[in-house]
Amino acid sequence: MVHPRSFESGQSSKLLSRSEPVLQFHLISLFPEVFKTVLESSLLGKAQKKGLVTYSLTQIRDFARDKHRTVDDTPFGGSEGMLLKPDILCDAWESVMQKVPVEETPKLKTILLSPQGRLLDQALARELAQSTHLILVCGHYEGVDERFIELCVDQEVSIGDYVLTGGELPALVLVDAVTRLVPGVVGNERSITEESLENGLLKYPQYTRPREFRDLKVPDVLLSGDHGAIGAWRQNQMLDRTEKKRPDLWQKFSLKSKSRR
Ligand code: ADE
Repeated sequence: MVHPRSFESGQSSKLLSRSEPVLQFHLISLFPEVFKTVLESSLLGKAQKKGLVTYSLTQIRDFARDKHRTVDDTPFGGSEGMLLKPDILCDAWESVMQKVPVEETPKLKTILLSPQGRLLDQALARELAQSTHLILVCGHYEGVDERFIELCVDQEVSIGDYVLTGGELPALVLVDAVTRLVPGVVGNERSITEESLENGLLKYPQYTRPREFRDLKVPDVLLSGDHGAIGAWRQNQMLDRTEKKRPDLWQKFSLKSKSRR
């Protein structure tokens, strides 16, 4: 991936930014309007207001070269559907790269959301949260011309083994999973390390008031005030639940524990 300092800038709209965000997301899409509500709501919106992250949106169609604003074409060799054109995608990508200072590019990654990519899990979200810039390219139609991937993309990421109509929802899933790992976004750091999947296990069950609801009682140990006992109970629940509900995770966890021993 080459830094295109010499290319002209395209149109991208900053939703909000502050002087030194920890992580800057750049979303490249044919449907940038779908992002706004989610990015401005809840924790993602707060992260932005606190200046911890920024989101920029780039409309691929703004880089079309004809009066019909064409962005796709039929595949050589014949097959179903249309492909996003490499020249237009590269121009859109370069317009984003142009705005990133060269010294920040070592921690920049360009990701194409695609069912062919590495499956997004908590470990990958942690890896991506180490970046300073993430350019997320949302594919559409039947796919993108392979040369765009070769020239500009560092990694393809999938959110699951099913095919969606485009990369917008996967990009939002990725932004959400990564943003909440940026230090300062989730108030209590412990709540991140204790949660589902951080250690390869599911989280323990949790309860709030009332102590009894429709004949179901909160387990006594949680009302005991004995933090040692509560910790042990939670640890057991995590092991039990993972074994019962997610045998795939349980197997990975058991293998890891064996190799550590
Ligand atoms: N685009 C279409 N389907 C997808 C998936 N499962 N993950 C990421 N991007 C996609």
